[in-house]
This record gives sequence, C-alpha cells and structure tokens, in this order.
Amino acid sequence: MSASGLRAREIEALTQDEAAEELAALAAEIAHHDRRYHAEDAPEISDADYDALVRRNRAIEGRFPELIRDDSPSRRVGAGATEGFGKFVHGMPMLSLDNAFGDEDFAEFGARIRRFLGLSDDPLRFVGEPKIDGLSINLLYEDGRFVRGGTRGDGASGEDVTANLRTLKDLPLRLKGSAPTRIEIRGEVFMEKAAFLAFNAEQARRIEAGEKGLRVFANPRNAAAGSLRQLDPKITAQRPLKLFAYAMGETSERPTDTHWHWLERLADWGFQVNPLSRLLATEADAAAFQAEIAAARAGLAYDIDGAVYKLDRLDWQERLGFVGRAPRWAMAWKFPAEQATTRLLEIQIQVGRTGALTPRAVMEPVNVGGVVVQHATLHNEDEIARKDVRVGDTVVLQRAGDVIPQIVSVVLDRRPADSVPFAFPQTCPACGSHAVRAGDDVVRRCTGGLTCPAQTVERLIHFTRRNAMDIEGLGAERIQLLFDKGWLRSPAEIFRLHAREGELAALEGWGELSVRNLLRAIEARRTVPLDRFIFALGIRRIGEANAKLLARHYHTLPEWRQGMLDARIIGSEAREALGSIQGIGPAIAQELVDFFDEPHNLDALDDLAGEVTPEEVAGPAATDSPFAGKTMVFTGTLETMTRPEAEDRAERLGAKVTKSVSKKTDFVVVGADAGSKATKAAELGVRTLTEAEWREMAGYG
Ligand code: IVH
Repeated sequence: MSASGLRAREIEALTQDEAAEELAALAAEIAHHDRRYHAEDAPEISDADYDALVRRNRAIEGRFPELIRDDSPSRRVGAGATEGFGKFVHGMPMLSLDNAFGDEDFAEFGARIRRFLGLSDDPLRFVGEPKIDGLSINLLYEDGRFVRGGTRGDGASGEDVTANLRTLKDLPLRLKGSAPTRIEIRGEVFMEKAAFLAFNAEQARRIEAGEKGLRVFANPRNAAAGSLRQLDPKITAQRPLKLFAYAMGETSERPTDTHWHWLERLADWGFQVNPLSRLLATEADAAAFQAEIAAARAGLAYDIDGAVYKLDRLDWQERLGFVGRAPRWAMAWKFPAEQATTRLLEIQIQVGRTGALTPRAVMEPVNVGGVVVQHATLHNEDEIARKDVRVGDTVVLQRAGDVIPQIVSVVLDRRPADSVPFAFPQTCPACGSHAVRAGDDVVRRCTGGLTCPAQTVERLIHFTRRNAMDIEGLGAERIQLLFDKGWLRSPAEIFRLHAREGELAALEGWGELSVRNLLRAIEARRTVPLDRFIFALGIRRIGEANAKLLARHYHTLPEWRQGMLDARIIGSEAREALGSIQGIGPAIAQELVDFFDEPHNLDALDDLAGEVTPEEVAGPAATDSPFAGKTMVFTGTLETMTRPEAEDRAERLGAKVTKSVSKKTDFVVVGADAGSKATKAAELGVRTLTEAEWREMAGYG
C-alpha cells in the first residue's frame, strides 16, 4: 500500500511496518513543504493542510515512539534549524566516558591506571562529581572574554551556538580575575526538573490555543538541547537553561596542577560548579560517594544518571591520555538500570552485514525509566537457551545507560502452560542459505555472502554511515528501496546512481531537489581518507580504530591491497608486517586475509576503487619530534614508565609502534633484560636507544 493510501488509515490500525513507511514518507513530504515555505517562499499547500501533516506525524510517533526518525519533523526545532548553525571546531576533541556499573568495574578502572603508570599501592586521589543529564558544550575564552561556544557534535566539531549561549545567566561573559590567554571550558547545559515541567505545560497550553511551530519535550535533556539549538537567541533567552562547568579543553597554559583546584578556579572565574563535587582521598572513598549521590538523587533539582570520577593529578591525566573516544583517567559510574516487566510477543531474527543472525525480542510496549520500549536484544542463540526465553513469557526488561534494552530474566510463575522452547533457525531467514556456527563462535552466520540480500543491504548501510563514507541522504530505507528496485547492489553502484537521476526523482517522496542533493553528496565522497574507506568496507573486526591503524601503516590503497594479498601466505614478510602493527592481533589479521581471499570481495573493492580515490594517510599526527613518521619497537623492561605508556607516548609523537624488529624499523628502545629483539636490531644495524636516551628525545621533563 502506498503511503498516501495509508494516510487514510486510523492510526490505531497501523502495523509497525506501515507506521515506519508512513513516517518516512511524512518526513520527506514535510521537509519538502518546509523548503517551499521557508527557503523558496513558495508554499504549495495551506497552513491547515501542513498542520494536519505535522499532527499526523506526531500522532504516529506517539503510538510508535521507537520509530521516531533522526530526521523526524518533530525533532526539528524550526524549519532549517539543523542547517542554520555554523560549524564549531573543538580545539581538543570532546570525548565521552567509559561506564562502570559497580565496585568491580571501578576497581578495574583504578587497577588499569596503576598498571599504565606503573604505580604501586599508593592511594589514587579522585574527584567525584554528579553526572548531569544534559548536553555538553565547549566555551572558548580569549583574554578572559567569552568569544565562541559550540555543542559537542561528533566530538571533533559541533554547532556554533554562541549567540544562544550568551543568553545563559550562568555563563560569565568575562572571567573574573586572571585567566590564560586562550582556554576552552567545558560543561553541561541542562534544565531543572520543575522548570521543565512548567515549561512543557506552557508549551502544551499554547499548542492547544492554536500556536504554530511549538512542541512539548519528552524529558529535560531534550528540552535543554532543543532550547539551545533555537535559531532565534531571543527564544533561548526565555528558556530556563542552566550550566555547570566541569572540564578543560585546549589551553595556552595549564592553570592548575589538580582537577580539584581547577574546579575552584572555575568557581573563582564566575562559573557554577556542582556543589556536590568532592575530593576523594583514596579509591575506597568512591563507593561511599556513589551511595551519597544516589541517596541525594531524588531530591536534586536536576536529573543525574550517575557520578563521574576523575583522577585528580593533571600530570597523570596527561600521561594516561585516551584510548578510543574515552580518557583513561576518568570514568562514569552509572546508577543501576531501571527495570520493568512486559510480555514477549515474538522473537525476530535479523541478519547483519557479516551474516550474523541476531535475535530480537518484540514485546508489548512498556515504560522503562521514562522511555517506551518495545524491542530488546537477545544477543545470540546460547543466550536465549541459557535464559530459556520463550514467546509468550513475561520478561524482566532493563535499560542501562544509553544501551539497547536487555531482557534480564523470565518470570517463570507466569509462563503459559503450552509454551515451547525457542527453536533457533538453522537457515538464513533472508536468503534460505545454511546458517552455521564456526568453531566455538557463539554467533550463527548465514553462509550466503553477497548472494544474501540482507547482508548486501546491511553492508551498503554500513558503507554510507556517518563515520564511514558519510553519504548524507542515503539512509537505510532508501538503500533498501534502491536494492529492491535492483538499482543498487554494490558500493560502487552508489557512484553510478547519477545515471538514474530521472528515475530517482520520480520515486514517491524523493523529488528533484532531494535527488540533486543526494547526488551532490555522493560526488563529494569520491575522495575520502583511506581509513574511512577501509572502515566502510565492513570487514569483520575492522572498526574505526583498526582501520586507522591499517591506513597509517600502509598509507595508500594500492599498498594496502597488495599488502593484504601478500599476507595470505603464512610466514611471508607481508604477513609479519601485518602482524607487527601494534594493535593488530592474529585474529584480526586472519579476518583481513579471509576477506581478501574471496574473489568477489576483491572484485567489489576494485570496482569501487574505480569510482573512489582514497586519500593517502600520512603517519600519525606529524610533529616535529625525532620520532615523527618513524617505526619503533620497545623491548625489555623500562624502569621509569611502563611499556604501554611509552608506546602511547611514541604514537602521540607521530611514531608507528610495531612488535617486531625488521629492516624497516628505525629505532629500538632497549630496556633491562631485553632478549632477541635487541640482538636482531644489532644484526640489522637498526639504531638502538637506552631508556635515558628515549626519555631525552621524547621530551620527558
Ligand atoms: S567530564 C573527558 N564531567 O557525560 C571528560 N562529563 O559520558 C569528559 N557529563 O559528554 C566529560 N556530567 O556530557 C564530565 N561532571 C561531569 C559530567 C559529564 C555530565 C556528560 C558529558 C559527557 C558525557 C560523557
């Protein structure tokens, strides 16, 4: 049934698939009318008809909240708002935090710090702070004046919301006292609970009275985000937004030696600093602080979802650095997950891009800690068997942090008498190929490869994703549609879609303008950094971090391609080189080799390489250190630092750290009791450094 046919249907009668289809059509249609009205000043429909579309969209979302799309009209604050802000590039990336959920996780966090820094049992001093449930922002001050501010965005850059931030009463436009010439200050913008309820009630009243362009928000966090992203700062000024400052970004000089003093400086400069923040003399104090914050939670004026623990010494923070997107020196300890019970209606099997069959539970919708949940992951076949989850069961559901809801257990007393254990399919539900489990893999996989439509579509979706090729306007639904039409079967074909411009524009809900934008977005990706290109291929276990390692090691696509083909021979120099990359273990090497062993993968890659030219990736962050662009090996025991710390430092100085010594190695740092690697270095005439020489050249104080 077409979407317009669906529109006549009662919302109560819509199935989930129909609702999803209609929401997609409505998003496109409303976006089209927004453009006609706001950008082109040429509306095609009456205000009343437009409002009817918006209301229908909202009503469907009300019934199917889990289907709310990223590009939903209800998420847009005003037409064009998403395009209305300039870009704010963070001087230092804005990262996220790893989560701990209990004592053990926290103890492991402490242990990891000690291991990395090579500390003995001296107590670690932490600062504990409530984790505010708002949105993080970055504020740039120059000569003590607020100059610009932005949202976190993807961590590297966000939206420039300076004009809106200026309206916040908690934001000092000038720092009191002396300050570094240039400093980024980070904090959380939020709305208090009572203010949120009053604000939402007022919005509802005005909507009821017929005012246009208004909306109510699901929670204070969304309300704060929506308010900060208003195009008109006068509107932001009327919203009850508050700000706590808590972190430092890039700075021309470090103003303090400890995080605790840093919080004091923030307060002196005129920021609000959370009054519950506490200096904790030892790790053992964290559990008590956590309990204290949990007890205070309900009585606080604002929402929190846990506490954040930061190592107090900034020099240690600096040495610890980051892994992936999170610092090694901080941790969020979240409150226990919220739970609810509901009935399991169906177990669906989804097929992922690597063929993994993943079971998904479909349940009667239930409210878990403020969010309506209808789907949960069941992980894999063994997990279903272990919990003996059956269709018809009443199950306990939980949501922990931002993760997908999980089924914790089954309420056996309420199991229907006629229930049967779930039989996991032995064939792929998408293509009928055998689905097998290799060795001790817990995952059952479809053997259909590229003949399996589900895998092909999932790979295409992965390929276009934001952190992969980032092709805007080519989301999951459109890919599925183009696949069904037979117009899109491989990544390379994306770059040949321009030949179908007319046919695309004729598709319902697409339109000429949106097709033109899509084709432009595709053209813009004919050159991409090599690491994104590698990640986009969707090879198992090659996530963003590993793709970066490969790109840095091989620099260009032809070199990588040849390196992988040669590495298929066990014992070859190419295989050794692959295995020697710090961070690439044997299992990952095997995945790469397996991928290149399949002729159809190579064909698809070469076809794609005819359309896209990956940019050469230079060694890691070129610096003027003597190690920039060099290949290094560390061997033996270092005395003043641990090996991981030294390797991390070397990488930050632009070196490529590998595990084995070869002709290509530039430096071998030799610690105490070094074995064969030192001997090999001597044989090959590779330059060796003592620990003292390494410290000197690496600029340790
Ligand atoms: S510190 C590298 N402190 O939590 C350190 N973050 O999960 C980064 N958040 O994006 C942040 N309260 O939005 C820090 N007291 C606090 C926080 C806090 C809330 C948020 C922040 C961040 C997210 C990370």
